[in-house]
Formats: sequence, structure tokens, C-alpha cells
Amino acid sequence: MGSDIEASPLALPASFEWGVSTAAYQIEGAAAEDGRGPSIWDLFGKQKGRIANGDTGDVACDHYHRYREDVALMKRLGVQVYRFSIAWPRVLPHGRGPANSLGLDFYDRLVDELLGNGIEPWLCLYHWDLPQALDDLGGWQNRDIAGWFADYAALIARRYGDRVRHFATFNEPNVCTLFGYGMGWNAPGIADRRSFLRAAHHVNLAHGDAVRTLRALAPGALLGAIHNRQVCLPISTAPQDAVAANLLDACWNRLYPDPQIFADYPTELVDGVQEFIQAGDMARIAQPIDWFGLNHYSPIYARADPGPLGFAWADAPHDVPLTGVGWRIDPDAFRDEMIATHRRYRLPIYVTENGYGAHETLDDSGGVNDGGRIAYLAAYTRAVEQAVAAGADVRGYFLWSLLDNLEWGAGYASRFGIVYVDYATLKRVPKASFDWFARLIRAQKR
Ligand code: FCB
Repeated sequence: MGSDIEASPLALPASFEWGVSTAAYQIEGAAAEDGRGPSIWDLFGKQKGRIANGDTGDVACDHYHRYREDVALMKRLGVQVYRFSIAWPRVLPHGRGPANSLGLDFYDRLVDELLGNGIEPWLCLYHWDLPQALDDLGGWQNRDIAGWFADYAALIARRYGDRVRHFATFNEPNVCTLFGYGMGWNAPGIADRRSFLRAAHHVNLAHGDAVRTLRALAPGALLGAIHNRQVCLPISTAPQDAVAANLLDACWNRLYPDPQIFADYPTELVDGVQEFIQAGDMARIAQPIDWFGLNHYSPIYARADPGPLGFAWADAPHDVPLTGVGWRIDPDAFRDEMIATHRRYRLPIYVTENGYGAHETLDDSGGVNDGGRIAYLAAYTRAVEQAVAAGADVRGYFLWSLLDNLEWGAGYASRFGIVYVDYATLKRVPKASFDWFARLIRAQKR
């Protein structure tokens, strides 16, 4: 299934950009090397039962040492753009204070390697690996973190602003706060509505402060934030599940982009956030940005729950097409999300993540014939074409992900890469989808 699908060209503007995305903690490894400080994910992973199979990011894909090989893979793939994140604790081991020059050097090498291969780096400041030293001070629940984050942004802008033209503040603030502070599934593992909303407001403040800092120190750079947006569906026809789905939608889809772009919190949540808002905060948060990063995978489901959040996460039903990790396949929902995001926020959209997860092993011939992923990618890239035809200003597509990597709480068994990583040897094996995506990119360039 899937591997015979043509990589036929899509009707997209010639300027449309193709790329891949990764995140520092999921691929770098070298967790205690060259002066990197611990992050909340290092400690979280050492707590029993937090990450499947007891996996940790200590070694991950060893990208820290193998980045040249990984950039060579990207070059072979033919991507024009690459989104990566900086590990805050690698450059500021305590989160603030003295910078770690060896850590900064690593990203110099990476950026230069990318540019030398004609690939444009897109730099994301925060993909969830908060320095543990800051968590010890309350992490995202401490209002001072907005200033710490802006100082970190200043360090990064000064160092890489001469070569990097696209910066993102946060990757998926909804996931790291809802799962990290509201539901306890992600680091730092807190399950409390008030903590979640406090963290949410401080993330928004940090976003606004970082945008102002980046504007001042990297003039001419194009700035954005990356939001995970998926339609939220009730798991049944019961009216209370519809209410739950709307609450999840407020937390998932609107809690961040609405204040960041409209200076406004969703009505469903404003009562809960109010106690954390001080005079001038909303103007501080809503700084003009240049592009909207959209991560999208699948519709998500909610059921009513008596707990403080008012909703619980529900797995997708079984009678719909599912990926290898049980996420619903629905390319029409992706098309509709791009159109809705365009209409609501009126910014150029870059799809900064989309991809297919599965539990895969090498086959007898030593490869991975991932036809299911190819079928998914063919349908989802076709959805981009349809959204653009319907008027959505979508300008690029970054596939998640280049490599199999540490899929947070699901560990290494959940594979999203178009390159298989053999974790015993760290050998990279391009899957069939790698060749398919390379052919698609090539077809677009003709
Ligand atoms: C997104 C994350 C990314 C990866 C994919 C599968 O929510 O941003 O790091 O885990 O899901």
C-alpha cells in the first residue's frame, strides 16, 4: 500500500518552500556534554513510568555529533528549509546568567553547515526543554520567566541573527502547557488547571517580550510562533461531550494565537486567566508577527469529565482510518484547518509540522517500506494544494520529521521519521517515504 503512489507535482506557487522539522531534545543527545545543563525533560525521563520503556534523551539520535550526516541527508532530500530548535540549557546551562560558549558553538556549526549546503535554517527558541534550574524557580509559573526568556532570545539573536532570517518563539505552547501543567503527561508533570492557566499567560508574555527583543536585535528577520491546531470533536453525540470538545478547543486552538494576535483570551478561559493578568499585559503579548506556524496531524477528541478542566482526552474511534500510532487520518480536516487559520489570523501560513507515526522495524532487505506514511503524505500534501486553491496563503510545508526520534512520553518506539534510526548503532536508513518526498520536491522544482 502506498509505495506505488506517484509523487506528482502539485499546483503550488514556485516560491513554495519544502522542508523538514526536528526538535533539540528529540534528536541531539549529548545531554551532559560540553557544559549542557539539565532540562525538565532530563529529570522527567528519569522518573519511573514517565517515558515509555524507560527511554531518555541522553543519546537520542546523537545528532549533536552526527549533524553533518543529517544535513547531508537533507541535501539529498532536496529541502530548501530546515526547522530546528535550540536547547536552552545547552546555551544557558542555568537558564540565565553566563552563556556556555561550547553550546553556542554547536549551533554555529549547524547553521553554517546548513547554509553551506544551500538549506535555510529556521530557528525555534523553545521546543519544550526548559532548563531545570528555571523549573526549580517555578518554571513557566513564575512571572519572571518572561524576562528570562527575552534575555535568552537576545543571546540567540545576537549570535545567529547575521545568518538566520526566520525565528519562531515557541513550538506548540498549547501542548507543553496543557500536557505539562494541566494534565501531567509531559514535563514537568503537573496536573492542575490553575497552574496550567498561569503557565499559559506567562508563555504568552514571554512570546511578546521575545518578539520585541528579536525585532530590535535581528532587524529584518521574519518572526512567528508555531501553533498546533486540530479540530476538536466530541467522542459521542451526548451534549456534554460537545461542551467538553468546545472547552478543549479553547485550550488547544485559541489560548495562544488569540492573545498573541488579537490581544484577547478565549471567553471560555478568561475567568481562569484573569487573576494572572496585570495592567499592560495584553499589549505586551500582542506584538506584530510575520508568519503563522501551523502544526497539524489529526482531529482530536474530547469527552466530558468532572475534573477541573471539564474535558478528558479521548482516543480516536476505531471505525475511522488511523495512523500506525492510532491518530485519525483526515486530510480534509487539514485542508479545512489551513483555510480556517488563514481566515481567522490573516497571516502567511507555514505548515511547520505534519507527518505520520508508526511502530516500525527494518524488513528483511534492511529497509522500511512505509507505504502507509507515503499514502498519508500524498493525501496531506494534496490537501495543501486544495487549501491554496481555496485562497489560503500557505507558503511552505515542513514534514515531521527527518529522523525517527524520542517521541516524548511515547519514547523511541513511536517513529515519525522518513529516515529510520537504528538506536543500537545510530545508523540512519532512509525509508521509502524519504525517496517519495525527494521525488515530490524534485517534481515541484521542474
Ligand atoms: C508535535 C511535537 C513534535 C512531535 C510531533 C509528533 O506535537 O511538536 O515534537 O512530537 O508532535
